[in-house]
Amino acid sequence: MVDKKRGMYKNLTSYGDNGFSIFLRKAFIKGLGYTEEMLDRPIIGITNTYSDYNPCHGNVPDLIKSIKSGILSSGAIPLEFPTITVHESFAHPTSMYLRNLMSIDTEEMLRAQPMDACVLIGGCDKTVPAQLMGAFSTDLPVIQLVTGPMLTGSHRGERVGACTDCRGYWAKFRADEIDQEEINEVNNQLVPTVGTCGVMGTASTMALITEALGLMISNGACAPAVSAERKRIAEQTGKIAVKIAAEDFRPSKYLSIKNFQNALTVLSAIGGSTNGIVHLTAIAGRLGIDINLDDFDKMTKDTPMIVDLKPSGSGYMEDLFKSGGLPRILVNLKSYLHLDAQTVTGETIGELIESYKYNWDQNIIRTTKNPIFEKGSIAVLKGNLAPGSAIIKQSAASKDLLLHEGIVEVFENLDDLAKRIDSEDLNVTKDSVLLLRNIGPIGAPGMPEAGLIPIPKKLARQGVKDMVRISDGRMSGTASGTIVLHVCPEAAVGGTLNIVKSGDVIRLDVINRKIELLLSDEEIELRKLNKPLKKKSNRRGYNKLFYDEVLQADQGVDFQFLRPIE
Ligand code: FES
Repeated sequence: MVDKKRGMYKNLTSYGDNGFSIFLRKAFIKGLGYTEEMLDRPIIGITNTYSDYNPCHGNVPDLIKSIKSGILSSGAIPLEFPTITVHESFAHPTSMYLRNLMSIDTEEMLRAQPMDACVLIGGCDKTVPAQLMGAFSTDLPVIQLVTGPMLTGSHRGERVGACTDCRGYWAKFRADEIDQEEINEVNNQLVPTVGTCGVMGTASTMALITEALGLMISNGACAPAVSAERKRIAEQTGKIAVKIAAEDFRPSKYLSIKNFQNALTVLSAIGGSTNGIVHLTAIAGRLGIDINLDDFDKMTKDTPMIVDLKPSGSGYMEDLFKSGGLPRILVNLKSYLHLDAQTVTGETIGELIESYKYNWDQNIIRTTKNPIFEKGSIAVLKGNLAPGSAIIKQSAASKDLLLHEGIVEVFENLDDLAKRIDSEDLNVTKDSVLLLRNIGPIGAPGMPEAGLIPIPKKLARQGVKDMVRISDGRMSGTASGTIVLHVCPEAAVGGTLNIVKSGDVIRLDVINRKIELLLSDEEIELRKLNKPLKKKSNRRGYNKLFYDEVLQADQGVDFQFLRPIE
C-alpha cells in the first residue's frame, strides 16, 4: 500500500489537481529510466556539493555511490541534487559572505523537492554550518556526512599539511628565511590529496562538533577523504537516512540545548576553530536555541584541551583518526558531557560512550588530567573596546602576551593594511598592538579571515613571531597567534573599534577576560559623536540583502529573517 503523504507524493507542484501533479511528476522521472515499483519507495535526497572549484569535496562523487548503496539496500530510493558549494580559497570576498546563501539554497531545495530524509554532504569550512542551518529550518530528518580530511604531504623531510603549514611557510618567506624556489616547492606538497584541511581548522572542528551534536554516525568525523573507511561511513550514513525517514526522526524530536552544550564542550576540548562558535550560534539560532557567549565562557572555562593537533598542538587529522577519533575524545570527556543527549541514530551520547573500548596507547588524545592546555582554549572577552564581546583562542596564543598593554597602530581597512604593513616607516615595535577595523560582517563585507594581521616585515626580519592583533574580523582555524577576533559591535556599525586612533593604548587581560581601550567613557562618546558613519545606499541583489539583514558575530552572522518567527 503506497503512503500518499510520503516519497514522490510529497511537495507536489501546484497545478490545482493533485492527481495530475503526481501523474506528470512520475512521467518526467520515468524519463530517467525508473520503474513504478522504485517510485513507490521512500525518497532520500542527497546534496551533491561537488564542484571543480571545491577540491575539499573532490571525493563527493565516490561518496554518493556509497550512500546510494546504503539507501538502495535498505529499501528506499536515493535522489541526488546539486546545491551551492563554497571553498575557502575560491570565494570572493570571503566564503562567510556566501554561507547564508548556501543555507537558503539548501533549505529551499529540501522544502521544494519530494524527500523523506536527506543526507547532507559537506566538508569545507562553511558548507556544514550552511547545511545544518538550512536543514534545521525545514525540520526534515537529516544526517550529515563530511568529505573527510586530506592526508599529509612531505617537504624536504618535514611532514606538512594544509593549512597551518601554509601559513608557517608563508611567514618564513615574508621574513626572508626561505627563498622563492622553496616556497614554490612546498606549494606542491601542502595539499597532497582531496579532502578538507588536515589540522584542527574550521572544517575539522565542524566535523567533530557535528558528531558531538549527534548529527552524524559514530566516528564519522575523522576518517580521511581517500580512505575505504570514508566510503563505509557513507554507506552506513545512507542506511541510517532510510531509518530516520521511516521514523520521521526530525531534529526537533531529539535536539535540545544539551546537544549544543556538548558540542561547545567538545569545541573547547579539541582546541577548535574560533569560527566554530559563530557557526554553532547560527545553527542553534535556527532552532530557537540561544547560545550566549558569556555562558559558553563560564561553561568551558574549566574544560581542558585534550587533543594535540595543529595549530595549538602538533598532530594532524589522520593521527586523530588512528588514535580513536571523536569517540575516544568523548570517553575522556565523559564527566563534562550531558550523557542523556540523543543522537540521530537514536542512541544517547552516554550509550555510545559505554560501547567504546580503547586500550591501545597513543599520544594525540590526552586524558583530562594530562591536557595540552589546562582550560578554556577559547576565551570570551568584554570591555569598552568590545561591549558586545570578542574572542581569543588562547591555546594558540603566546603566553607572555595574554596580559599585555601596548600602543596601537590602526589600519582603517584591508586596503590600508596592504599598503602600509610592510612599510619601513611603520611606527611599530614588537610591543605594539595592531588593530584592523572594517572587516566585520558589514564592514568587509562577510567578516573575512583577515584577523591574522601579518607581522610587519621589518619586525619579522628581526625575528618577531607574534604580536597582539585585534579586529572585528575572523581568523582561519588553521592559524595561530595572540589574535583578538569578532569584536562586537564592529566598526562599521559604530562600535568603539571605529574611534580608536594610532597612539592610543589598549590593555588585553585574558585571565580576567578584559579588553580595554585606555580612554575615559566621555572621550569615547565624544569621538563617536565626531565620527558619524557613512552609509552606502546603491546596493542590489544578494549584496543588498546581506547588508540589510546580517547580524553581528555574537548572533552567528545569520540573517535576521532566517531565524524562527517568535
Ligand atoms: Fe576547505 Fe580548508 S580550504 S577545509
